Amino acid sequence: MAILNIVKEGDPLLRKKCRPVTEVTPRILTLLDDMKETLIEANGAGLAAPQVGILRRIALVDLGEEIVELINPEIVESEGEQEEVEGCLSVPDVWGITKRPAWVKVKAMNRDGEEFEVEGEGLNARCLCHEIDHLDGHLFTDNVVHILSPEEVEELMGGEGE
Ligand code: NI
Repeated sequence: MAILNIVKEGDPLLRKKCRPVTEVTPRILTLLDDMKETLIEANGAGLAAPQVGILRRIALVDLGEEIVELINPEIVESEGEQEEVEGCLSVPDVWGITKRPAWVKVKAMNRDGEEFEVEGEGLNARCLCHEIDHLDGHLFTDNVVHILSPEEVEELMGGEGE
């Protein structure tokens, strides 16, 4: 396994639409392993393949109990609305309020090539939406409701912010 370099806002790779995965090859499995290690190392909530420079529809989300691997994920159902704080490993030191569904159901493929569904609410719903957005070249800053000021970040992080 390897820690991958996370590309930052301004890199054109983050603005591309990613291609679906047609077959889970050994290369894809290695990518999933490396992305998992990279996500854990970066202490993030999620990581999408374009963030490590790979333009394929692959994302990992930390849903609290486990890190879930999503291949070709699609939001198939959503409900409600929330406005909460979001950040991104590719947009360091920026936090903003975004408008997201309160609950989503996502359909995806796992590493065995089997289709499955995963649901998330609150933070997990935001994370699922955020990572899937990455696969279409969207960053959370594109339609952010409000970017937090340094004072607001300080308040939010209780003085322990990054
Ligand atoms: Ni992100």
